[in-house]
Amino acid sequence: MYTTLLTELEKGTLVITVNRPDKMNALNKDVIAELAKVLDEVYKNDEIKSAIITGAGEKAFVAGADISEFVSLDYSAGTALAKLGQDSVFNKIENCHKPIVAAVNGFALGGGCELAMSCHFRIASANAKFGQPEVNLGLIPGYGGTQRLTQLIGKGKAMELMMTGDMVSADDAKSLGLVNHVVAQEELLAKTKEILQKIHIKAPVAISKVIACVNDAAMCDPKGFDNEITRFGECFTTEDMKEGTNAFLEKRKPVFKGK
Ligand code: COA
Repeated sequence: MYTTLLTELEKGTLVITVNRPDKMNALNKDVIAELAKVLDEVYKNDEIKSAIITGAGEKAFVAGADISEFVSLDYSAGTALAKLGQDSVFNKIENCHKPIVAAVNGFALGGGCELAMSCHFRIASANAKFGQPEVNLGLIPGYGGTQRLTQLIGKGKAMELMMTGDMVSADDAKSLGLVNHVVAQEELLAKTKEILQKIHIKAPVAISKVIACVNDAAMCDPKGFDNEITRFGECFTTEDMKEGTNAFLEKRKPVFKGK
């Protein structure tokens, strides 16, 4: 079904693996198109409760956009490349109503770091390395990196990383707030799935509203507080809110239906 991705649905989590290990899983136009397609599936298929994005092999998560596709681009083609990627993949991941988590298994450079940052949060293996080395190519990040890295680690650190192009280790990425957990490579998928299983038993409508509200905050949306009030109110119209509160009062575990 996909030529550049592997997909596997297990216990409601779709594991999406970018599968070009001989090219460090670099994001060429086929990968971008297929990621856009698989995201449509994540949005629409009710059997999918969450997704993990990872890379094939033990070396790279994604080592960036495919540099070989850059050579012939001019202003309008460069602009179009960034816009297509942001609209069809990166923003779609960030705004997905279901949790999407990056399991960063190796180099996450350039577009790879941006792909990880567009996910709702990140778990890294101990060998992972993060960086935005575009300045080495006479470029800047184009898949949202200037915005999301600044949101995640703050202005001064983002400036330094993007101006030097330096890579940081998984442990340093954790200290910076770029990743939530660092685990051994062989435990990476299991740890990520375990966290998602915890989320699966919560109320899905509430989870989607948490994502929307936190995204508002990250975007410094001046309507963030008002949107939180509205979405809080909307929770009271859900069956899941009645189930959750009743279950608490009846001293039993809630069973949420996503309604
Ligand atoms: N685009 C296209 N091809 C890439 C790539 C990218 N972003 N990153 C790696 N590759 C390819 C290499 O060209 C090489 O292909 P080849 O075997 O046909 O020559 C293959 O992947 C293996 O990479 P290689 O550089 O030999 O591996 P390494 O272990 O020595 O180094 C990296 C790994 C990730 C440090 C190095 O590949 C790298 O710096 N990649 C580019 C990172 C980057 O600048 N990303 C931002 C792009 S905007």
